[in-house]
Amino acid sequence: MDPDARNGWTLATHDGAVELRGPGDAPGRGLRADWRELRLPGGPSALRGQPLGRAVGSAARTAIDATAGLGFDAFAMAAMGLQVLAVERNEWVLRLLQQAHGWAMGDPRLGQIAARITMKAAEATAVLAATEPVDVVLLDPMFPARRKPDAKPPKAMQALAAVVGADEDAGALLAAALRVARQRVVVKRPVHAEPLGGLKPDWSIHGKVLRLDVLRGRGQDIDG
Ligand SMILES: C[S@@+](CC[C@H](N)C(=O)[O-])C[C@H]1O[C@@H](n2cnc3c(N)ncnc32)[C@H](O)[C@@H]1O
Repeated sequence: MDPDARNGWTLATHDGAVELRGPGDAPGRGLRADWRELRLPGGPSALRGQPLGRAVGSAARTAIDATAGLGFDAFAMAAMGLQVLAVERNEWVLRLLQQAHGWAMGDPRLGQIAARITMKAAEATAVLAATEPVDVVLLDPMFPARRKPDAKPPKAMQALAAVVGADEDAGALLAAALRVARQRVVVKRPVHAEPLGGLKPDWSIHGKVLRLDVLRGRGQDIDG
C-alpha cells in the first residue's frame, strides 16, 4: 500500500500527465480534468442562458470561485467573459486544476478563455477576508453524504470525496463570500439539501440533481 494514498487514491503521472488513480485504476485510467473535452454548443455566449449563467447574472464581470476543484465552473464563468480567481486548498486537486489550465492555455480554441482565469493555492476564507469586492462569489463545496449510499457517484466525485472529504467548514465560507460579493453569491447544492449555513437564498434555480441558490451580495466598493 502506498503510504501517500488517501483512502486508496494516489496522485500519479502517466505519459507526462498527472492523474488521480483510484483503487484498481490502471496507469492512464485515473481521473484528469481536461477542459478541452467540454462541448460548448452555441458557443461560449450560450452559457449565459444556462443555469450557472442565469445564477451569475448578466452584469457580472469579475468572480471568485472559492471552491475551484477541477475548474469546470471557473472555466464556464471565464467562457462567459468573466475574470475569475479560482481558489483551491487541496494540493492534489490543485495539480489537476493547474494541468487543465495549462492544456487549455495551449489550445487555440480555449487559450483566450483560460487566460481570464487566475489560480490560487489557498484557503478561500482567508482569500475572501483579504480581497477587494468582486461581482460574484461561487461556492460549490463537497456535498453531504448521499442518502442512497448504494448509488455510485461519478468518478470525479468519488475521487474528490476520497482525497478532499467533506467540506464541513463551508458555512464560514458563505459568511465571508457575502461580505465580498457586490452582486451575488451563488451556492451549488444537491437539489434536496438544506441551504448552506441555514441561510435562506433570495432565489434558486432547480435542476434534477442540483440546485443553485442565489444570495444578494453585501460587498461594497471602497469608493462606492
Ligand atoms: C465539489 S468540488 C468543486 C468542483 C468545481 N465546482 C468544479 O467545477 O470542478 C469542491 C472543491 O472545493 C475545495 N474547497 C472546499 N472548501 C474550500 C476552501 N475553504 N478553500 C479552498 N478550497 C476549498 C475542495 O478542496 C474541493 O476541491
